[in-house]
Parts: sequence; C-alpha cells; structure tokens
Amino acid sequence: MARILLTGSTGYIGSHTAVALLEAGYELVGLDNYSRSLAGVSQRIQEITGKTYTQHRVDLVDAAALNKVLEQEPAIDAVIHFAAFKAVGESSAYPLQYFRNNLGGQINLMQACDQFGIRNLVFSSSCTVYGNPQVIPVTEESPLLEPESPYGRTKAVGEAMLRDWVKSTVPQDGQERQVIALRYFNPVGAHPSARIGECTVGVPDNLIPYITQTAMGKRAQLTVFGNDYPTRDGTCLRDYIHVCDIAAAHVDAVNRLLGQNSSSSPWSVYNLGTGIGQTVLEMIQAFESVNQMNLPWSYGPRRPGDVVAVYANNRKAVDELGWQIRYSLQDMMRTAWDWEQMQAKDPL
Ligand code: WQD
Repeated sequence: MARILLTGSTGYIGSHTAVALLEAGYELVGLDNYSRSLAGVSQRIQEITGKTYTQHRVDLVDAAALNKVLEQEPAIDAVIHFAAFKAVGESSAYPLQYFRNNLGGQINLMQACDQFGIRNLVFSSSCTVYGNPQVIPVTEESPLLEPESPYGRTKAVGEAMLRDWVKSTVPQDGQERQVIALRYFNPVGAHPSARIGECTVGVPDNLIPYITQTAMGKRAQLTVFGNDYPTRDGTCLRDYIHVCDIAAAHVDAVNRLLGQNSSSSPWSVYNLGTGIGQTVLEMIQAFESVNQMNLPWSYGPRRPGDVVAVYANNRKAVDELGWQIRYSLQDMMRTAWDWEQMQAKDPL
C-alpha cells in the first residue's frame, strides 16, 4: 500500500488525518517536533486504529535532520504538510517566528521532496488567505485579499511558493510534481472516541476550546469579542467544520493524487467548509443545547484582526474530490465536550 509522510502528524488536524489514512489502509511515516503537540498522541492514534506506524521527532527548520530521516524512509508516495504554527493572535505578536517556522520549514520540505523524488504533496492551507472577503460565500476563485495576520500571510505565500514550484523545471525523472492545497475554514470538535482532539497550550485563542474550558470551569467566563458587527446578531460569522470531515478530505486528496484518474492539473485548491455560516452566539447556543448547560459569558471589545464574516462554497471539493461531510453542528459540540472531559479524566 502507498506510504504517506505526514509533517505535523501529532497536531490537531495531523493526528485526525493519521487515523483516517491508517483506516483507509495507507502506511504512514509521521514527523513532528512536538513544539505544539504531545508525543503521546502517537500512541492514541495507534490505540484508535489498532495499527502501528513510524513516528520521528524532527524539526523541518533543520534541513539536515529532515534529510537524515528521509534517507531512512525510502519510497514515500506522497507527503501531507501540516507542520506550522497557527495562532492568529500570536503571529501578529511574533511574525518572524512564523515566517521562519512556517515558510522556512516548507522550503526545506520542498527541497527534500526534490532530493528524494517525492512528487505528490497536499498542503494545509487556510481560509485566512481570503482576508476579509467582500462577497461570501467564497469560492476557490475568490480574490486572495490582504491576509489579516502574519499567520494568514504564511499560508498565502506558502501557496504561491508551491504554484511556482510545480511550474518550474520538471525533475530529471520526468515525473511532474502535483500539489493539492486544502483551505480549511474553522476546524472544531474531536474524534468520536475522545482519545484525540485539539491540545491547547495555555489560554486558548480559538472559540471552541475556550467554550469547553469555560464549561469545565478552567475559565471563569467566555468573552464574546464584539457585538456590533454587520451580521444577523452582531457577532462574527464563520464556517465551522468537524475535524474528522477535514481529515476525510485529506484521504480524498491523496486518493486523487495517487489514483488512476489522478487530476492532470499540477496545482489544485479546494475549500473545506460546510458552506453554512454560524455566528459566535449561535455556537454558544448550540453548545449549551447539545450539552444541556448554561455557559457564563459576556460581551467584550472586538478582537483586532478578526474577519467579520466568511464561509465556504464547497462545491468543488464535493464534486472533484468526492468529499462527503458527515458531521453535524451537534456532533461538533458533543465531541468537543467529550474530549475536554476525557482530558480531565485521562490527560495526554
Ligand atoms: C472565531 C470567532 C472570534 C475566542 C481560526 C484559526 C485559524 C484558521 C481560521 C485554519 C471570532 C470569536 C474567539 C473567544 C470569541 N483556521 N471568539 N471569544 O479567528 O476564525 O481563526 O480559523 O487555518 O487557524 O485560528 O477562529 O476560533 O479564534 O475565532 O468571541 O474567546 O470567535 O472573535 O469571531 P478564527 P477563532
């Protein structure tokens, strides 16, 4: 069976994709530096699937270390590149860390792909490349406006570097490079087993982990950042999508790259969202309703850099990748809360 290299394999999306790929019958080689994740996630992936795989500790910013690992792991058929810092707020505070880690690591990976004959790559991109869209829902052809954060910029530049790379000189073996970029909207929730989920270090930036930690009593109350936006209830609107649906799309993308009817185009990009926008208040209400509780929350000032409203037109991923969305808003809320409770009972 084909062998897939996952960078950032113990991260939030990476770990859920590792489960989905193993269950689809792929062999895996995982790379992670554990700067934003826990090594114990690897055992949980194997516990959930009942399958083993190889996991290496390596930082993509260290090209020599990366190449040393790839010398030990021949015959990689495709790589999925997750490894990156992803906190919007943190990136505004420390942009150089983001450029070095996200872009420097990506360049090393691309060079290693050329050196070791890896021609198929799936790139973890983001809806933040659309900036503050004037027309929603956004399609893959929507303009790529000024990203609202250095994080978003590393995704926009990351895509641009890949587009240049696939158009550059064809490698000597004549095998063209093929890249699929997947633009995630807001990944939320956790695997139904509650054995993997989003591991947050310190105070969560994102809405759902903050909600679940408030529900757990770790946070006194949730602050809703702004209630005077031009939306149906004054709070920002996003396209929240279950992390297991995001993981399934990666299996579909790898199948397409390696499949018989693989896309002829060297570069393809797909929106991964439900196509439904939800506001912050609607997410709070959904969480309270599904989990039968009242959350302590209050309004606060707007958060700098927040996009007012964005949600996806996801037809292209459905039509071309055969992507199917299986999880509902209720599943997102229930699995997020199950994971928070599991972490309290049996922490990673
Ligand atoms: C969502 C809404 C906040 C926390 C995320 C990821 C980013 C990218 C896009 C993949 C906003 C509000 C939040 C809180 C709040 N995904 N909020 N109180 O900013 O859309 O970015 O999705 O690449 O990596 O970070 O998500 O969850 O931070 O915010 O009111 O305590 O919730 O203002 O309107 P965001 P988020």
